[in-house]
Amino acid sequence: MPEIGEEVQVTEKIVQEETLVKKIVSKRVDKIVTWQERREKMKGVCKNCHNQTHVNNFYQQFDNLVNLYDEKFAKPAQAMMMALTEDGVLNPKAPFEHEAQWVFWELWHHEGRRARHGASMMGPDYTHWHGMYEVAKHYYMKFLPAVIKAAAQKSDEMKTKYEQKIEELLEREEHLWMKGLSEEETEVLKSTYKNRYNE
Ligand code: HEC
Repeated sequence: MPEIGEEVQVTEKIVQEETLVKKIVSKRVDKIVTWQERREKMKGVCKNCHNQTHVNNFYQQFDNLVNLYDEKFAKPAQAMMMALTEDGVLNPKAPFEHEAQWVFWELWHHEGRRARHGASMMGPDYTHWHGMYEVAKHYYMKFLPAVIKAAAQKSDEMKTKYEQKIEELLEREEHLWMKGLSEEETEVLKSTYKNRYNE
């Protein structure tokens, strides 16, 4: 993070002899506007038409979606990619050599982006069906298998290592639904419905 008064190098695009060129220029930091200040300004716009509660609730919901995406899918996927690179399975100079790299990229840039933009623009269909639904489906059904596939191309040991890694990952609370309900849980659910509908 730069500080006020500090000199920084900034890339600017300027027109030179009718072509757009990039030039590095020296600038001095005048003030720093944090994201919190930027958000307050944005909320000020919303408050022209909506009340405080409505606006706060919107941002609460939006942040929750982005955090869910980050914590449940994006950060663990990133960690997996970094581990694969450290283990020499992925070559950082060949970013689209393996299927895992394509799927990872799309989780972030395609369906993940639709989910985040959908939430920011109040589009439920984009947030859910074109967004988080596909993020989850592709994470479990494409990304994790592609990780094992890439590791297996390196060696049998790598394959085992990543199979174990993924098994551990899926033990985390947020993924347990994948395993389905135990008999006890099924009974609890059944009796809940029985009580509720008095049957
Ligand atoms: C110029 C007035 C105006 C401003 C400024 C404004 N809105 Fe709205 N907003 C509306 C109106 C009018 C509706 C209802 C539209 C409708 O129902 O078709 C609405 C609807 C919404 C809804 C409900 C959408 C839905 O699908 O039910 C949300 C959430 C919302 N606005 C959030 C925001 C946020 C966040 C901001 C600031 C970033 C903002 N609005 C700025 C006028 C405004």
